[in-house]
Amino acid sequence: MLRKIGFLVLFIISFSFMIYYGKETFYIDQKASTEMSHDYHFALITEEVGNEYWRLIEKGAKQAAEENDVYLEYVGPKLADDEERLETFDRMIAADVDGIIVKGMNDERFPQLVKKAKDRKIPVATIDTDNPTSNRDFYVGTDNFQAGYLAGRTLIKETEGKQKIAVIIGLKEAQNQLDRLAGFEKAIEDVDRMELIGVSESRITEVGAADGTYQLLKNHGNITVFFGVSALDGIGIVQAIEEINPTSRPYVLAFDLLPETLSLIENDKIQATVAQYPQEMGQQAVEQMVQWYQNQQPDSIQHTETGIIKQEDILNGEIIPKEEQ
Ligand code: BGC
Repeated sequence: MLRKIGFLVLFIISFSFMIYYGKETFYIDQKASTEMSHDYHFALITEEVGNEYWRLIEKGAKQAAEENDVYLEYVGPKLADDEERLETFDRMIAADVDGIIVKGMNDERFPQLVKKAKDRKIPVATIDTDNPTSNRDFYVGTDNFQAGYLAGRTLIKETEGKQKIAVIIGLKEAQNQLDRLAGFEKAIEDVDRMELIGVSESRITEVGAADGTYQLLKNHGNITVFFGVSALDGIGIVQAIEEINPTSRPYVLAFDLLPETLSLIENDKIQATVAQYPQEMGQQAVEQMVQWYQNQQPDSIQHTETGIIKQEDILNGEIIPKEEQ
């Protein structure tokens, strides 16, 4: 009896192993054959896999990938993490993909990885944020300094009298955030009535932006403007303002066109946002990478559009097309 039970246990264990490894082998085989059935295999390395803004970049990139017979891998850290992003970059080089599209980083290891990739004949493009000295092949994305400048000019146009401005920045080490802030400061530097009184970091999360706003409001009662520099900051700023409910409501200037931001603009909780076009960035980066393989050297800097969106530009959560305005 005991031998029979022992036999049965052994059988169950080996059967489970067979199913598990069989499935794994099947999965790997299937992945390899999907890769091989395409002309190219590109990697898009995101800042944060689940971030809504990066999902839009992925969407555009996937569309272009489908149209150009590219197998596109969307990879990166779950939550913003430079170490993990650099590791992913290195892993993609080791995987010998045909092209890497990655958010540019200031870390000194970034140019080293670009070199490593290029030594192996893997072209590298930066997206959303550039690092022009890294020797990457090309950049597709917003002109971040100009976008920040535009934000500053908008504020000057839209407000009257003395303004005390607080800024919520996504990540202090991210060059696009620093460029936007520098552009913003440049725009307001000669305007006496504009005063920047504090900057807080959200770590690109809504809750981080809400916490920062809360602290800033507590420490400086008289803030009249909040400027959120990355995609979820405006949403977090509004959450904190709603909670604190200050006697006079600050003007809120946000970044990006995420659905919740548009809805908050329609409901007059955010007064304006700087538009970026992440879907176009993803699409263009993949198309240009394909061009690289067709010996058409892409332009080194390819800026996508920016603009300002206000309440009158939105209807039922959608941007009204320009020709209908
Ligand atoms: C920035 C991205 C950032 C995202 C965070 C966007 O405005 O361009 O670099 O990852 O916000 O939500």
